[in-house]
Amino acid sequence: MKLNSIATVMLAAALAPAAKAWDGPTMGWSSWNTYYIDINDSLIIRQAETMAKSGLKDAGYNHINIDDGYFGGRDKTTGKLLIHPKRFPRGLRPVVDKIHSLGLKAGIYSDAGMNTCGCKYNNDTIATGVGLFGHEKEDAEFLFRDLGFDFIKIDYCGASISGNNDFRSYNPKDRYTAIAEAIEATGRNDVKVNVCRWNYPGTWVSDVATSWRVTHDIYSDWKSVRKIILESLYLSAYAGEGHYNDMDMLEVGHSMSEQEDRTHFAMWCMMTSPLLIGCDMTTLKPETFKLLTNKELIAINQDPLGLQPYVVRHDLKDNTYVLVKDLEKRNGTVRAVAFFNPNDSAVRISVDLAALELGGNARVRDAIYKRDLKAIKDNGILEAEVPARGCMVYRISADRRLPRRLYEAETAFLTSYQEIYDPEFCGTAYYAPDPECSGGMKVTKLGYRPDNDLIWKDVYCEKPGFHDIRIKCASFPEKARLYVSANDGRGTLLSKKDASDNTLTLRLPLNEGFNAIRLYNDYGPMPEIDYMEVD
Ligand code: GLA
Repeated sequence: MKLNSIATVMLAAALAPAAKAWDGPTMGWSSWNTYYIDINDSLIIRQAETMAKSGLKDAGYNHINIDDGYFGGRDKTTGKLLIHPKRFPRGLRPVVDKIHSLGLKAGIYSDAGMNTCGCKYNNDTIATGVGLFGHEKEDAEFLFRDLGFDFIKIDYCGASISGNNDFRSYNPKDRYTAIAEAIEATGRNDVKVNVCRWNYPGTWVSDVATSWRVTHDIYSDWKSVRKIILESLYLSAYAGEGHYNDMDMLEVGHSMSEQEDRTHFAMWCMMTSPLLIGCDMTTLKPETFKLLTNKELIAINQDPLGLQPYVVRHDLKDNTYVLVKDLEKRNGTVRAVAFFNPNDSAVRISVDLAALELGGNARVRDAIYKRDLKAIKDNGILEAEVPARGCMVYRISADRRLPRRLYEAETAFLTSYQEIYDPEFCGTAYYAPDPECSGGMKVTKLGYRPDNDLIWKDVYCEKPGFHDIRIKCASFPEKARLYVSANDGRGTLLSKKDASDNTLTLRLPLNEGFNAIRLYNDYGPMPEIDYMEVD
């Protein structure tokens, strides 16, 4: 290439709008929450047509996901997956083609083991033996190469001991990795995989999936929504770069009150969860449509950074939460803030602008009610009366970003974190409530192995050089030791004799921008960690 044409290409690249580095959480519709296994082709097509023409597609919803219920067994001689002869008499191809012709993406469902959840719990006996176990290659080729599906949710009923024919115990990482490899081998590298293991499966899941369920099944009741929100609050370290914690399909539009539906949708948006509508889109009430198409909440869900918010303030007395995440630019001046009131009575929630690391004057936009609020002056307070079972979601744009000093342990990444097996038995660290700790939470059971460590991956510094670090431990047994390192540098060994009032003080060399500070002990126990402060 000639020099001037190289320059033209470079100039064009510089002028082109920056490509979004990854997709936001999946938006769309899924059949399960309304129809369970009673699905059929015309029903699915009607939902797709409604999404395309009602304004839902314009609002960003673009997946039509067929959940459990389409299976028709397997061919006895070839093992080929069969499609339900009555529910989908023409097979799945015409359904996928129709979905695609509407400019939408098509999603499908299967199981990492032998059987589906529907055959276990919904008496869908025709689905016995239809799971992916032992059929990874041929099913992946059928679903993605031949039929053209773009998304798959992979359940686990048929791989759990009670759900497979041999009562065998499988390793979820091995099962999901084998399936992800089979999908990749079809040549389709654009298929989105959703792991459905009903709790956070472990940090390996980011390598095989773009989203993963973090709780058991949702149902249309405030108790369920509240429980899912509370169980998802301390998982922010595991989301990002196109990978999301999935709080389950939406129950908006079913039987909850308007307030409960609003909190449900607004919190799913704030938490950067996938947004899969679960009700019948052809009979949406106007207020449900309005809520589901709230552009300002959706923008907070689909923000290009793809970050999950963390709890910046948990009021233990009032039992309320303030959550925060950066929007548009990491460590910039625009942040989303949510007040969450899980209680059955209204509570006044407030937070200092400085605690949100924002300075100068701040403009506040209420994203739920789409209104500008009174700007907050420097050093001011953001406050609101939050209704029972309610939340507020704000987009705040301030003059300045203040340096972050406090890093709670419950916002850190734990390399061995998982919620499938009892962490006490398998020796994996976890986040635990402790009313004596800042934010009411700590990290416990760290150490004994290199990968049972704690890492704050987002320690932001304006000035490079040595910084004072204080690590507050929730408890510090005599035998406990920890090494502290910055950016994979040399670790500093510390023990109880180095602590004063369970607080360790040290100096670490940090870079300008983001740093990773790691706490570890390969050989024995570590203290319980409450938080870290960085000067
Ligand atoms: C499990 C999943 C649900 C749904 C059903 C289908 O329970 O968690 O979301 O897919 O299986 O049988």
